[in-house]
Amino acid sequence: MWNKDFEGEVLISREELAQKVKEIGQQITKDFEGEPVLLVGILKGSVPFMADLMRELDLDVTIDFMCVSSYGSATKSSGVVRIIKDLDTPLEGKNVIIVEDIIDTGLTLAYLKEYLGARHPKCLKICTILDKPSRRKVEIEGDYVGFEVEDKYIVGYGLDSAQQYRQLPYISWIKTDK
Ligand code: IMP
Ligand code: MG
Repeated sequence: MWNKDFEGEVLISREELAQKVKEIGQQITKDFEGEPVLLVGILKGSVPFMADLMRELDLDVTIDFMCVSSYGSATKSSGVVRIIKDLDTPLEGKNVIIVEDIIDTGLTLAYLKEYLGARHPKCLKICTILDKPSRRKVEIEGDYVGFEVEDKYIVGYGLDSAQQYRQLPYISWIKTDK
């Protein structure tokens, strides 16, 4: 049931998010000046960030999406993810930026980097609005990172708890049973 009054606290406001996305957009625009970029959003968590970021890029931008899910807990540590929807676009020779909501254990992005890297893009970068480095299980870093967050369960701006709260325009932590 929709319960807006969950136990938690706003960590990053709508205004702070907007300012940070603008800064990341300016950095990417500078780094890829004069070149086209393909943004690859990872569904569903990247949706608000992707929508905001693409509008901050003063570049030739195209977008595509992938949908992935991790396998059950028994195999989760292997870092193999299930591809639910793959890209429509070939990557060969392109400047590709993966757009994610958060790097947590890093398993998803480590897998995707290898999986997409095998298609020979010109370059493959990672852009994430949040980073939880204390939870990392594999060595991986974002090239463009919005905010570091502590080890709390986060919702809002695309991040969910049981599919809820993705639409919140701010980032909050939330008390969970997990
Ligand atoms: P990974 O552990 O780095 O592979 O992260 C996999 C996915 O778990 C992320 O893309 C998020 O969708 C989700 N996730 C990780 N931490 C959180 C959180 O604090 N709140 C909501 N989703 C999360
Ligand atoms: Mg995600």
